[in-house]
Amino acid sequence: MTILIINGPNLNLLGVREKTIYGSQSFDQYYEELKLLYPNFALDYYQSNIEGEIINKIHECRLTHDGIVLNAAAYTHTSVAIRDAISAIDIPVIEVHISNVHKREAFRHVSLISASCVGVIAGFGLDSYRLGIEALTKLNKDK
Ligand code: DQA
Repeated sequence: MTILIINGPNLNLLGVREKTIYGSQSFDQYYEELKLLYPNFALDYYQSNIEGEIINKIHECRLTHDGIVLNAAAYTHTSVAIRDAISAIDIPVIEVHISNVHKREAFRHVSLISASCVGVIAGFGLDSYRLGIEALTKLNKDK
């Protein structure tokens, strides 16, 4: 299976940024652990702080990957354009969040992208990404 993990704005600062919410591990470290868990998968990773670049990546990978694990970060709550990009492609997208957004500020309770994703995983720390991969694996087996 070929899976692309996409991280949105400020997630390049994981391990440094608001550690009480997002933990002290960098995504690069976690990504190395994930790759060891899935040695038979092509597990790719892309991060951008720029909305249009995330959209371009979503378009591109529709031809190269079986699914996307997407943490759109703050764009989750604002981006109609990312939602439309997800709706425009045929491969499944799982929305993930490190924190439980529903326990946080009210503006984080609204996701503009959830309706175009297969499902949502939130609140399990970095393990949310692994759970997203598990969800994609199950979908792939069932198809
Ligand atoms: C986040 C939650 C968002 O509300 C926030 O803007 C982020 C990270 C999470 O993974 O918990 O940057 O997507």
